[in-house]
Formats: sequence, structure tokens, C-alpha cells
Amino acid sequence: MKRMPRLSAPAAALAALAFSSLASAQGQPPLKVGLMLPYTGTYAALGNMIESGFKLYVQEQGGKLSGREIQYFKVDDESDPSKATDNVNKLIRRDNVDVLVGTVHSGVALAMAKAAKESNTLLIVPNAGADAITGAMCAPNIFRTSFSNWQPGYATGVVAAQKGYKRAMTITWNYAAGNETVKGFTEAFEKGGGKVIKDLTLPFPNVEFQALLTEIAAQKPDVVFAFFAGGGAVKFVKDYDAAGLRKTIPLYGSGFLTDGTLEAQGASAQGLPTTLHYADNLETPRNEAFRKNFALTYKANADVYAVQGYDAAQLLGAGLMAVKGDFKQRDQMLYAMGKTVIGSPRGKFAMSAAHNPVQDFYLREAKGVNNEYRSVAVKQLADPAKGCKLQ
Ligand code: PHB
Repeated sequence: MKRMPRLSAPAAALAALAFSSLASAQGQPPLKVGLMLPYTGTYAALGNMIESGFKLYVQEQGGKLSGREIQYFKVDDESDPSKATDNVNKLIRRDNVDVLVGTVHSGVALAMAKAAKESNTLLIVPNAGADAITGAMCAPNIFRTSFSNWQPGYATGVVAAQKGYKRAMTITWNYAAGNETVKGFTEAFEKGGGKVIKDLTLPFPNVEFQALLTEIAAQKPDVVFAFFAGGGAVKFVKDYDAAGLRKTIPLYGSGFLTDGTLEAQGASAQGLPTTLHYADNLETPRNEAFRKNFALTYKANADVYAVQGYDAAQLLGAGLMAVKGDFKQRDQMLYAMGKTVIGSPRGKFAMSAAHNPVQDFYLREAKGVNNEYRSVAVKQLADPAKGCKLQ
């Protein structure tokens, strides 16, 4: 007869702990989740998509994560860094949330990361790419389910160099996301034999592109690389087309240029090549089920922001599962979040030691209302995480 394996003393203690914490999760109050997102301004649609994605995952789990009811608190951050510290403190001090989820804008997210570090609140970033969040500011209680700004910029630079373009111009908003994305693009493009001849910027969230488009027309680079998103991306792509530039100078972007925006951009965006960690038509059961359920629930097509919000909830779920809903077992929970592999609609991804996704970047092409997969631009791209001491 086979003997039952005997549990070692520590394993038995862990099993007992897990059992008792499952019991305690039942009687615990709801877990307070603070959503700090833009609900107004150029990034409003992005904020709404993140919230929808997050709530969809929780709803798919029956409204609870590991036995814990979820209670939401919301703040509109307006993508305004000058209000960010006050706004995040509403959630931390006034509402006393257990978890912060936010935000879209890199400048606002940097203030959130600082406040999360100081108060030791768990923070999950579902979009903002500010490199420092999983670089110099990295911390055991800070996670990101999206990307670092460097990542999509770098992946697009690889693609543009492979195409054989030699002289590039870049155009973006002058703030962390724009500047860091351009830096990633330049690094890969110049490594691949190209040269960035000029960087053009305008203040966030301005959309007066005419003078800059005139300069592009005058310089005649081989290719233009752009970072814009949300309402600003809609206007930029339309203006680029209306200025007659699409016919003469190919436009490349990180995928935010055409994600969640294709309906509004209409013909002006058709055929645009971009790179991102997601493509709408990935033919995996995970992506197809996600998109179907999202469309049924919200009567709208999912986009990358919805995916990132969904995965933020999955990450929290994985942490809670490891401690059977007992949020107070914080070290074990954070450890589990760092080690989990997320079954994302984008494809499976793991966290780097700095808590940023290590993930594939896809070359896509805008067709109809979808950003269609064309090829893998860079496999398993990891952010360099400069200055992060977590290990
Ligand atoms: C950012 O500010 O980090 C940001 C905003 C919108 C995007 C991507 C990055 O689509």
C-alpha cells in the first residue's frame, strides 16, 4: 500500500495557516480598492476602459476575490500632475483604501508611486509607463500590469530600423511618457543603423500640430515616429493625413496612437503600423473569451487599456489567492504577486524583479476598427529597470 506523503512541519504549519485564513476571509469586511484614473480630459476614454477591464475580471469571479467582496472608491485625476498628491491622499487618508489602482498619465503616476511608498500602500499601475516606477522608485508594494515607456518605444525602433529607414523625426508631448518613449525608439533605431535627426514636442495635452507638421514636410525624413494617445492621438492622425504627409512620409507609432481610437480616426488611420504588447485579433482562447465577455458586458470593443485593467485585477487576485483572502499576510501576498504568471489576453507574462511585465511586443496594422497582429516585433522584452535595487 502506498503511504500518504507526510507534510514537513513548516508545510503543515503553512497548510493550517491557509485553512484558518480562508475561514477568516469569509468574515472579513470588503477589500477597499481605490481607482485613481482620468475620467475627464484627453485620456478619459482610457480611464474608463481600465475600470471596465478591472471590474470585468472581478465580476467573472462572482464579484469576489478569494472570498473578499470588493468595494470601489473613485477619484478623477484629470491627468493633472499638479493635483495628483492631493488626489491620491483622498484615497489613502480619507477613504483608507487597501489597494490603489492607477493611473494613465506618467506624471500623475509618479506622484502616486511616491505616496504609495511613503504610506506603504499596495499600488498596481494599469497603464502609466513612467520608467522610474519600476526603475529608481521600484518597491516591494508597487506593481505594473502595463509596460514601461521605454518598451513600446524600443520595439518600434527595432521595426523601423529593420524596414531600412535611415533618417527619422519624432513627435510627441513634452512629458515623461513622450520623452521616454522617444528615448526607447531612438536607442533601438540608432542601434539598427538609423539616425534621429530631430525631436519635435508640444506641451501636454495640446493639439495644435500645424507648425510641427510644416517642419516635418520641410525636413522630409524617411519616417516619423509619434507617441500620442486618447483624444490627442485621434487629432494627430487626422491632421497628419489632412496635411498630405501620409502619402510621402510613413508614420509609425507605439500602439497607443491607434488603440481605442480607430473609430474616431476613420480612414486617416487605416493601414498604420504600430507596435504594442497587445493586438485585437490575437487568436488565443484567452483573448477571444475576454473580448467576447467584454463586448457582451459593455457593448463595446475591448482595447489595450481594458486588457491592462483586467490584468491588474488578475494580479490582485493572484496575491489574494496565495493568502486565501487574508490581506494582512502582506509579505506572502506581495511575494506571490511578484512570482505569478498572468494569463493575459495579450499572452502569458511574468513580472520582472522590478515588477514590470516581461512580454512580447507585436507589430500590428490598423484595419477597420482593429489593430491586427502582423508579427512579433521583439520577443520577451524586459525593461532595463535602471536604478532598481529589488532582487
Ligand atoms: C503615460 O502617460 O504614461 C501614458 C499615457 C497614455 C498612454 C500610454 C502612456 O496610452
